[in-house]
Amino acid sequence: MRDDEAMRAALDAAGRARRVAPPWPHVGCALVVDGELVAVASTGAYPSGGHAETNALALFAEHRVDGARGATAYVTLEPCSHHGNTPPCTEALIAAGVTKVVAALEDPDERVAGRGFAQLRAAGIEVVVGVEADAAADQLAAYLHQRRTGRAFALLKTAMSIDGRVAAADGTSQWITGPFARADAHALRADSQAIVVGGGTARIDQPALTVRALPDDDDAPVGRAPLRVLLDGRGRAPATGPLFDISLAPTLVCTTAAADPEVVAAWKATGVEVVEVGAGARGSGVDLDAVLQLLAARDVLQVMVEGGAALHGALLAEGRAQRLVTYVGNTALGPQGLPALPLDTVATMSDAPRFALRAVRRLGNDVRLDYTLGAHAEAS
Ligand SMILES: NC(=O)c1ccc[n+]([C@@H]2O[C@H](COP(=O)([O-])OP(=O)(O)OC[C@H]3O[C@@H](n4cnc5c(N)ncnc54)[C@H](OP(=O)(O)O)[C@@H]3O)[C@@H](O)[C@H]2O)c1
Repeated sequence: MRDDEAMRAALDAAGRARRVAPPWPHVGCALVVDGELVAVASTGAYPSGGHAETNALALFAEHRVDGARGATAYVTLEPCSHHGNTPPCTEALIAAGVTKVVAALEDPDERVAGRGFAQLRAAGIEVVVGVEADAAADQLAAYLHQRRTGRAFALLKTAMSIDGRVAAADGTSQWITGPFARADAHALRADSQAIVVGGGTARIDQPALTVRALPDDDDAPVGRAPLRVLLDGRGRAPATGPLFDISLAPTLVCTTAAADPEVVAAWKATGVEVVEVGAGARGSGVDLDAVLQLLAARDVLQVMVEGGAALHGALLAEGRAQRLVTYVGNTALGPQGLPALPLDTVATMSDAPRFALRAVRRLGNDVRLDYTLGAHAEAS
């Protein structure tokens, strides 16, 4: 078995753990002995499911009494070298007698950052880094961004008409796309640890922001309900509707000192958490940078921003969004409709941002476009 084939097996296993592993990174580990794949495992469900390396070693130990002596371990991320919720994976690999570790990526977490590789090498284990690095970096993009920047990775999701509108003139937007696109968006929710909306969307749509109708062929295990986050700097969203029903999922409201204390009290009376942050960098709303840092500190790797248009425009203008998934529905809403991505920073073509297209998919009568944004786009 070639190195890239073994790493692919590890990546496939890791992908299935993407919803249950966070805040751990979803990692895969494949063990190969004499060119034969003998065990593949992923990170388990946080906080008790174990790391990929120990899970693969345990799987292998069930079949072999002589441990993993002579095995090569293929890991999608550098093995951890510190005591967190679990003992260090480096110790487990060394104790099992693994002779070679092939890793896709170094772990940017400051508690690891090369120390895992150093410990393995010090124990006489051969270490190779960089196999299938691009695929692993894509799979772990949210984790890597969160660890490198201290901010949650922001995925913008929008459903727009062919003429680029996200709502009709009266503010209605349900539904621009069909059931397949909407189910796909629920899968993106399940892949995220938090879902954010602006105050306008909360007032007009009264969304539930829960994971419900997943696609029929979606069989990846689902983790905890994502945290629902409302950004309302002035206290204009009433404390009503599904967002304020915490029996559905937890809700956090981020606001500013400008919010009416009576509204804040009404929000709190429903049981939601309310946090005050600074005012937005562009003079309105809340400080988006502070929100993304606050969510990262609460173990959110990926936040899905479901709109509306003003919030998406602000995140783009401030360079705080990393990915855009847009569903283009088979309809047109006319010039009075609400424009998607209202960027006020583009006066001429040379000001226009360019996004890197990752994938295009047909979903019934709709089209799903998936883009990488900002520095991530330039790097790809
Ligand atoms: N098709 C879709 O995918 C989709 C998705 C969602 C919504 N929609 C539609 O979009 C419409 C709502 O969008 P919208 O643009 O009017 O409102 P929005 O983006 O949902 O909310 C904008 C409000 O969010 C608050 N906010 C807090 N921090 C902000 C910041 N840093 N930057 C910008 N805003 C911030 C501001 O209110 P404060 O100043 O009071 O804080 C602002 O007025 C509705 O018609 C809805 O149906 C469509």
